[in-house]
Amino acid sequence: MRRMGLAGLLILGLLAAPLAVWADEGSCIQCHAPQPGALGEPVALWRGSVHQGNGISCHGCHGGDPTLMSMEAMSPERGFLGAPEDSAVPSFCGRCHVGVEEDYRASAHGLALGEGGPQCVTCHGSHAVRVAGLDLINPQDCSRCHDYGRAGELRTAMEQTETLILALDAELKQLRRIGIAVEDWQGRLFALRNDFHRLFHSVDVDKVRRQTDTFQAKLAGMQDEVAELRAELNQRKWIGAGVVILLLAASGLFALLRQSYGRQENTE
Ligand code: HEC
Ligand code: HEC
Ligand code: HEC
Ligand code: HEC
Ligand code: HEC
Repeated sequence: MRRMGLAGLLILGLLAAPLAVWADEGSCIQCHAPQPGALGEPVALWRGSVHQGNGISCHGCHGGDPTLMSMEAMSPERGFLGAPEDSAVPSFCGRCHVGVEEDYRASAHGLALGEGGPQCVTCHGSHAVRVAGLDLINPQDCSRCHDYGRAGELRTAMEQTETLILALDAELKQLRRIGIAVEDWQGRLFALRNDFHRLFHSVDVDKVRRQTDTFQAKLAGMQDEVAELRAELNQRKWIGAGVVILLLAASGLFALLRQSYGRQENTE
């Protein structure tokens, strides 16, 4: 009984070995990567993307079963969604980016979906998606459908807050490097940064200007807390330095005493 169990395990292990080779990245990538043209390209583009970096693979977006090494992996019964039509892209991406989809739907862009308005992939691409920043707002990409005027105003309105976010982020990273626990601040800054970047999708300059004050007040509050911590650290450094100076002075004095005591001994 027991031996059969072991043999069974052995056979299972042998069977699972080749399975494990592709389970590594999944059958979607195994089968698509070597294919030419539009079937293979998504794999190369997806590598190095923000989605790959966060563990979102082909089936995360397209559905399907990445443990099956056959066309069956792409059957609707396995949850396969296929590639979305243009007008279906916002709900395709919005399954995970719920807040962004909401802002987008209510915007001039969302309202023009299917009638010349851009959707998520127009601006972010589908496979080579990168961390989003204000550089996505530029004359080349934003004057394809209308003039750059209002797009540029939007960018200017967002730049100041973005600069503050980046400065605070750099400061927190520096504190972390010297061993200070800053996870709580980093978490709050990450959430604030997401809310702020989300705001873009309203493409509403007035709304951005109205909310700028709220964002900047929150950032100033965090900046103050960090400055307070810095002051405290500096104070501790001075106290530390004071103790070192006292110790040095004491050991100097000790050496002097020993020297003169030693001399006394010599003369005797
Ligand atoms: C055994 C090889 C194989 C596997 C495994 C495989 N695919 Fe495919 N895939 C193909 C081929 C071939 C096509 C083109 C089929 C066609 O045009 O009918 C395709 C087409 C696609 C398309 C385009 C569909 C469309 O509507 O245009 C997507 C998206 C896709 N695959 C995603 C996936 C995902 C996600 C997985 C894993 C869950 C996967 N594939 C697994 C071979 C494979
Ligand atoms: C972030 C979501 C996302 C991920 C992850 C993703 N795709 Fe796609 N994919 C899309 C969207 C959206 C489209 C349709 C728009 C387009 O063609 O660019 C698409 C289109 C495709 C097509 C059809 C291309 C064509 O021109 O007909 C294939 C094939 C495909 N993806 C395969 C893959 C494979 C393989 C992976 C994993 C390496 C993958 N996708 C990962 C979102 C994604
Ligand atoms: C299965 C869930 C899922 C789907 C579907 C999905 N994403 Fe993502 N996306 C993520 C995760 C997780 C991250 C990384 C965490 C974060 O930044 O929110 C991310 C990050 C991003 C970022 C970078 C965010 C930043 O902080 O700068 C962009 C841009 C993005 N996705 C766009 C898209 C687009 C466009 C689509 C549709 C083609 C899409 N996503 C579909 C899960 C998903
Ligand atoms: C695929 C076409 C297309 C692209 C690309 C595009 N837009 Fe638009 N945009 C539209 C349409 C359509 C409207 C609605 C009609 C109008 O107001 O002109 C619009 C409206 C706007 C508005 C006015 C909103 C309002 O309520 O007044 C702003 C601001 C804007 N876009 C910014 C941008 C920015 C920034 C980019 C680049 C990141 C961009 N657009 C790229 C099609 C596009
Ligand atoms: C007109 C171009 C455009 C369209 C359309 C667009 N985005 Fe964005 N997106 C941007 C820009 C620009 C930013 C960065 C704004 C910033 O840096 O403040 C951004 C930021 C993001 C972020 C990061 C912010 C966050 O909350 O994490 C995600 C995720 C994202 N977009 C997903 C999407 C999805 C999903 C759609 C479709 C529903 C979409 N975007 C439609 C241009 C666009």
